[in-house]
Amino acid sequence: MCPPTYFRVSYSINPWMDPDKPVDLALAHAQWEDLRDRYRALGHTVEELPAHPAFPDMVFAANGATVVDGRVLGARFAFAERYGEAAVHAEWYRGHGFDAVREPRHVNEGEGDFAVTASWLLAGRGFRSSPLSHAEAQEYFARPVIGLDLVDPRYYHLDTALCVLDPGGGEAGGGAPGGDGAPGGDGAEVMYFPGAFSAGSRAVLARLFPDALIAGPADAAAFGLNAVSDGRHVLLPQAAVGLFEPLRERGYEPIGMDLTELLKGGGSVKCVTGELRLG
Ligand code: ARG
Repeated sequence: MCPPTYFRVSYSINPWMDPDKPVDLALAHAQWEDLRDRYRALGHTVEELPAHPAFPDMVFAANGATVVDGRVLGARFAFAERYGEAAVHAEWYRGHGFDAVREPRHVNEGEGDFAVTASWLLAGRGFRSSPLSHAEAQEYFARPVIGLDLVDPRYYHLDTALCVLDPGGGEAGGGAPGGDGAPGGDGAEVMYFPGAFSAGSRAVLARLFPDALIAGPADAAAFGLNAVSDGRHVLLPQAAVGLFEPLRERGYEPIGMDLTELLKGGGSVKCVTGELRLG
């Protein structure tokens, strides 16, 4: 995670960003710290990447890289405003014992567009990450990549429209009633908002995840899919009220977080959290 030290909305690269709307920086800090402390209280380790004054969006740490089995695929940002963040992230990984750090050839915005299940990568395209980055990720991580077309500009990153609740594959975690044998899938359990995807991608998701938790437009607009699950606890924006009961029914413990100031930049819980999958 990267603190919102220099967070502001001074440009607009997604429909949520309105430079005329003031950001309460003290509140943004308090909300961010609340999330960080909550992770720690749940027993997770949180590393803090120092913020950089040149990059107001750097608080959205999920975009800086994708880490699978300890291998790091760096980011390459679509917009000039964020381009320089990638090197700061890559530098952090190199300085913290990650030996395999790839500088990408094609545009990919890290976990904004890559979601990880037990054996696959789900990969968004349409607004930010290049479809070419999908092949690059497949080659680098040696995992099948499932490309998904995003069609609604409000859901410009995959992580605004889909969340992996349980990676499946028999790994630790509470949910996944389908288990390893879920038809068509690799046992992962996901939640997503169908309206964010093309018709073909909706059909792919329905085929791979027939038991998925389907979110409605109001919970999607509250950034309810921009959640982080450890397989048991699901941290998500508290305004996504329609998701709490369905999550409980599936055996998860939803934890509502208030990140309204960061939503002004077009991000919430997941966007500010880069996951270090050490393997
Ligand atoms: N303002 C940032 C951008 O538009 C928000 C990034 C949100 N991050 C995410 N993982 N969806 O790039």
